[in-house]
Amino acid sequence: MKLIHIAYPACGPFAPLLLPLISHYSSQGLLKSQLKISLIDIQPGAVKALNQLINDLGISPYIHEVICDDVMNYQPDYPIDILVIEALQHGFSREGHLAFARHLLSFLSPDAIMVPEKISVTASLNIGQREYVDQWAEQERTHSSLMSTEIQQERTVLGEIFTLTLDKLRKLTIVPLGSCMELVECNQVQIPTGIQDISKKNLLLSVTATTFGNEQIKEYDSGISQPMVDMSLCIDFIPKIAEPDDLLAKSGERLKFYYKLTGSPSFLPTIA
Ligand SMILES: C[S@@+](CC[C@H](N)C(=O)[O-])C[C@H]1O[C@@H](n2cnc3c(N)ncnc32)[C@H](O)[C@@H]1O
Repeated sequence: MKLIHIAYPACGPFAPLLLPLISHYSSQGLLKSQLKISLIDIQPGAVKALNQLINDLGISPYIHEVICDDVMNYQPDYPIDILVIEALQHGFSREGHLAFARHLLSFLSPDAIMVPEKISVTASLNIGQREYVDQWAEQERTHSSLMSTEIQQERTVLGEIFTLTLDKLRKLTIVPLGSCMELVECNQVQIPTGIQDISKKNLLLSVTATTFGNEQIKEYDSGISQPMVDMSLCIDFIPKIAEPDDLLAKSGERLKFYYKLTGSPSFLPTIA
């Protein structure tokens, strides 16, 4: 029987995408001799909690190793068959998801899979008050199924700016910026002309994660899929108080996106 090595980098204190499932398999006496799980987190407190949880759930036979280190130093001793990774905040920002996945790429087995298998980021424009306030005023919580059709029709969808799959990860175009920063080249989109109130609309970056097959985490289903507003884009207006990262754009122009691979990564819109 083939052993399956699952690695979960930056898994946090609860490794929430995996441990409940392993606990379920364990209670059914399943897969014990088939799974080899590696959990990696940089925080000693998270690792302590993880070890306690593994003991409490009685799932140590499934665990290959729990490592307290930076993912970027992790050199697995077995090829990774399943890479489980959720190291992003909304708008695919702030955490090292892409850097971690890139680092681990060379350790994947030839038929490895990644979970989520696809993360896509879409850019759109909407008035912040409508999107974030009016849309949820009558709702008890946010969820994709509770989005307002009327307010969604007010959105101007620009298009997909980035997709992460294993295949795309292997083909990223990396552009060095100076000696210490790298940018990932992303897609171009066009700002349409003739959109009413476009100068009042903000750039929204929304993540949809396809965990596997038809299972998706859509916009507003989770903190990581709340649309993130990027206030730097100013379309058809000049801000009264200028900020250093303002991007002055006009209707009809094309925007080219890059992804900054820094300690706090995020997208960088530019005029194409
Ligand atoms: C990636 S997130 C989300 C984790 C998990 N999915 C959850 O919901 O709890 C936060 C975790 O990543 C860990 N982390 C951040 N940067 C890391 C790095 N470079 N190497 C290893 N772990 C890291 C943090 O210590 C923290 O526990």
